[in-house]
Amino acid sequence: MERVECHSGFTYAERPKALLWEGRRLEVEAVLNDWRSPGKRGFRVRTQDGFLFDVVYDEVQDEWQIHLLSGGSMQGIVTVNRLSKRVAELKPSGIRKFFDIAATMKDVISLGIGEPDFTTPRPILEAGIRSLQAGETHYTSNAGKLEVRQAVADNLKRLYGVSYDPVNEIILTVGVSEALYLAFTALLDPGDEVIIPTPCFVSYQAEVILAGGVPVEIPSRLEDNFQLDPDRIRAAITPRTKVIFVGYPNNPTGAVAERDVLLEVAKIAEEHNLLLVSDEIYDRLVYDFQHVCVPSLGESIKERTVLLGGLSKSYAMTGWRIGYACGPADLIKGMNRVHQYTIMCAPTTAQDAALEALRNGEPYVQEMVAEYDRRRRLIVSGLNRLGLTTFEPRGAFYAFPKITVRDMDDETFAEKLLREERVAVVPGNAFGAGGEGFVRCSYATSYEKIEEALYRIERFVQRYG
Ligand SMILES: Cc1ncc(COP(=O)(O)O)c(C=O)c1O
Repeated sequence: MERVECHSGFTYAERPKALLWEGRRLEVEAVLNDWRSPGKRGFRVRTQDGFLFDVVYDEVQDEWQIHLLSGGSMQGIVTVNRLSKRVAELKPSGIRKFFDIAATMKDVISLGIGEPDFTTPRPILEAGIRSLQAGETHYTSNAGKLEVRQAVADNLKRLYGVSYDPVNEIILTVGVSEALYLAFTALLDPGDEVIIPTPCFVSYQAEVILAGGVPVEIPSRLEDNFQLDPDRIRAAITPRTKVIFVGYPNNPTGAVAERDVLLEVAKIAEEHNLLLVSDEIYDRLVYDFQHVCVPSLGESIKERTVLLGGLSKSYAMTGWRIGYACGPADLIKGMNRVHQYTIMCAPTTAQDAALEALRNGEPYVQEMVAEYDRRRRLIVSGLNRLGLTTFEPRGAFYAFPKITVRDMDDETFAEKLLREERVAVVPGNAFGAGGEGFVRCSYATSYEKIEEALYRIERFVQRYG
């Protein structure tokens, strides 16, 4: 059954203005009649191209359906646009599409996954279990348990020499995902612009739009090792610019940020009185590299930076949903206000598990990093050997090869590779303009699976190369 959308600003009282059908937008020329019968209500419409449709709301299925009358055989589900324009216009994530295809297939090796394949280390799990058994089943303070915030502060001090006051300058969130939402909602007025270097994690632009802001993408390039480009940032600044977004170690490229480039970006922020939001969720997953924490660059930079971090990736805790935001007290207070009305507090069990991770989890982080590093070397050398030029990732757990197979674009490559060799990768265009022509291969999967995936990719490349 074809999935179609009906964009109409449509409520039961209103009439559809356009249908989205087989990927085409069909303008409605006339509503010929409408009706209500038990369990159903709907409209017969003629589109400008002369098609006749019945648009029917099935109350039992709770869905809109569209029936093509002239021609007769097509049938589809119609989702009527009762959503706000802002939400209706959000593009679905390009990552999901590939997971949906892969889910229908057997024997797929997925290099598409953006989360650790490890289970949360045992002592951290047990801290969560103990928390439940002790009856810790209530709300915590909005900003999260103070001892956990203190542990975040201690870790940032130990690792990067940066100091935050756990009482006023740190808030625990439901992953970095929520922290992003809070940051943009608290910082942006309608129309404020956020400069976002791409390729980047898929949520940034969407979160900015949801907060009423405008994402301004600037591509980073393979030739520059996917570093931020200060000249492009300068060129993108307008009177509406409020935030420069920084996201290193980077998803999807695996690039890490060099100190001098970050200093240059910080200088630009100071010159133009802009804020920095820095997503450092992969800070612990670096290979032969010392991560540079943006607020550690200096007190004046720290004063204009919201630092986002979390436990999902470093401690294999994606499902627990714990992240944090640190920053100047006024900004954190604003974020906490949004958090208070939307979330209340991060999950209590997960906060207790996070405390164990932050206090005693270091050996597990080291162990996992060593294993990622082994896989990283395998996949990077393997892809380069096949002629797919792969930049050496120094952070996160992604390789980002350039697609040079016939004249395939990244989307075609990913789709054919999945259908013909059952290897799932994510096309680079899902991560914004700078990602076109690349695919993202996650090495958060076992060494053996990566070996098998490389063998299959080799077969594929030889067939088309
Ligand atoms: C760069 C980046 N930031 C943030 C997130 C969200 O992480 P979480 O909400 O689990 O903390 C992800 C997840 O893939 C990510 O890759």
